[in-house]
Amino acid sequence: MTADPTPPATKASGPHTGEEDLVELDQNHPGFRDPVYRLRRNAIAQRALRWRVGDPMPEVEYSAVEHGVWETVWQHLAPLHDRFGSREYRYCSAHFAFPRTHIPQLREVNVKLVPKTGFTMVPVAGLVASRAFLGNLKSDQFLSTQYIRHHTVPLYTPEPDVVHEMVGHAATLADPGFAEINRAFGRAAERVSEDVLKQIERVYWYTLEFGAAYEDGKLKAYGAGLLSSFGELERFSREAQLVPLNFEHMAARPYDPTVYQDVIFVAPSFTEAVQRTTAWLDSLR
Ligand SMILES: [Fe+2]
Repeated sequence: MTADPTPPATKASGPHTGEEDLVELDQNHPGFRDPVYRLRRNAIAQRALRWRVGDPMPEVEYSAVEHGVWETVWQHLAPLHDRFGSREYRYCSAHFAFPRTHIPQLREVNVKLVPKTGFTMVPVAGLVASRAFLGNLKSDQFLSTQYIRHHTVPLYTPEPDVVHEMVGHAATLADPGFAEINRAFGRAAERVSEDVLKQIERVYWYTLEFGAAYEDGKLKAYGAGLLSSFGELERFSREAQLVPLNFEHMAARPYDPTVYQDVIFVAPSFTEAVQRTTAWLDSLR
């Protein structure tokens, strides 16, 4: 599993990097045949693995190419956030005032995040079981990757990268409502069976990753997957099937993280999304 509760990528061996691969990329991954990228991924993962609670946050010295990917993504995403980002998201994003030309460090983001809700972005190498990922949310810890997507396709990533973690998740975690939903996922994930955990993963996907809500009669995105994906954020309101928030349906509906979502669950308001999602999670046994 990646840092997010998404299905594991198919393991495949790729070109040798000269070192043991900590990070195994799917053969369809844009960086699969790039030994430089694979080395980079391994090095960043290694530093996260060595990190222990209480240590200073590991700092990544991003290259000019990596900063360039971040800059390109922002150039495309910022206008869409203005149009489709929820009020709560836009407020939080303004609070962080993310640099547009270079990738911020986890340490810098935490300085602005912790005083807001107590949440901390914590480094993770990559593969985490969903119970561990979700369980950490109970303790106000969000497990975050630090690598960035491959430079040849700056507007696409098959897995959560630093853009998704920062732009999608870190920003939202500064809002009390978002923080409360995240904690509720953590509380529920710790006490349920594997079958119910699968349902929770799906609801997480359809709410905190790809959730939308009405705001003054207009459709707005609040899910991190939507807010960090240029292609998805631009198209979802007119091309996805928009259906009402329904936890029974979400919990039973598998998802495919490798394609644009064909169904988006829409809450009457963001406030209602927070209240109903938290209540559903707290009702699980
Ligand atoms: Fe995510």
